[in-house]
Amino acid sequence: MWKYEFVPVDLLEKDLQIRSEKVEHLLRELSDEKVVVNRRKGYFGTSFTFTGLSLYSIWRLVERGEVKMLGKLMGEGKESTVYNCLTGYGESVIKFHRVGHPAFKKVKEKRDYGTYHFSVLAVRSAKNEYNALRRLYGYVNVPRPFAWEGNAVLMELIDANELYRVKLENPEHVLDLILDEVREMYRAGVIHGDLSQFNILINEEGIWIIDFPQYVTRDSEISEDFLLRDLNNMLNYFRKNYGIEKDINQVLMFVKKQ
Ligand SMILES: Nc1ncnc2c1ncn2[C@@H]1O[C@H](COP(=O)(O)OP(=O)(O)O)[C@@H](O)[C@H]1O
Ligand SMILES: [Mg+2]
Repeated sequence: MWKYEFVPVDLLEKDLQIRSEKVEHLLRELSDEKVVVNRRKGYFGTSFTFTGLSLYSIWRLVERGEVKMLGKLMGEGKESTVYNCLTGYGESVIKFHRVGHPAFKKVKEKRDYGTYHFSVLAVRSAKNEYNALRRLYGYVNVPRPFAWEGNAVLMELIDANELYRVKLENPEHVLDLILDEVREMYRAGVIHGDLSQFNILINEEGIWIIDFPQYVTRDSEISEDFLLRDLNNMLNYFRKNYGIEKDINQVLMFVKKQ
């Protein structure tokens, strides 16, 4: 799938050591189950659907002994589907990335995905998120990452609400907590890139930052723009909802001060 939008059956035949008629038969059955999409244009080719890719990923995690049981659907974000699940670490969540999926055209147009099949983008997105969490866990309040496979990331379950759902009693304090985390992220060399009231979880114990596939490192060309946008998002949210005024330049200085 890294090379072809539709993987040729000939290749599968060679790889799997199964006759092409048999492969085609299996692929037709998988297509009926909506696990793959087949195409006969010049050649017989196939590609994963979001369901197929997610099944593949969870199968690998089950094989590795990481996932023991899949639980209920917890949330459908704009670029993912998140399920509760049981692992050796206890109750966890599994996030299936679906970035670049044809059903999410708007998202696709906003960023430049070239001509890659969505599987490639979804796998890359999951890997990025796993890398970011690994890099940040221990320094920043993020869910503990457990494993990555295909388009799936296995991580700690945070029992908290999204910031936008909560009416805060102490908004100044919460904004300070958020800015502290942004600063710690920056110190660790990471800029979130999609920081908003939807990607911050909160309960009585504190706040957590989630949703990292689009993160950039501090040395990237766009890091300053991303940081400024993240901070403006937060300041705007707290201004609109709680009337808190903070100077963006001072906040920027605070975050970048070593
Ligand atoms: N570790 C987690 N613990 C609890 N809930 C989570 C966790 N990760 C994600 N969620 C829930 O799933 C939703 C979507 O996840 P998110 O990482 O923001 O992906 P998306 O890109 O789809 O917005 C979140 O808004 C949150 O409600
Ligand atoms: Mg999100």
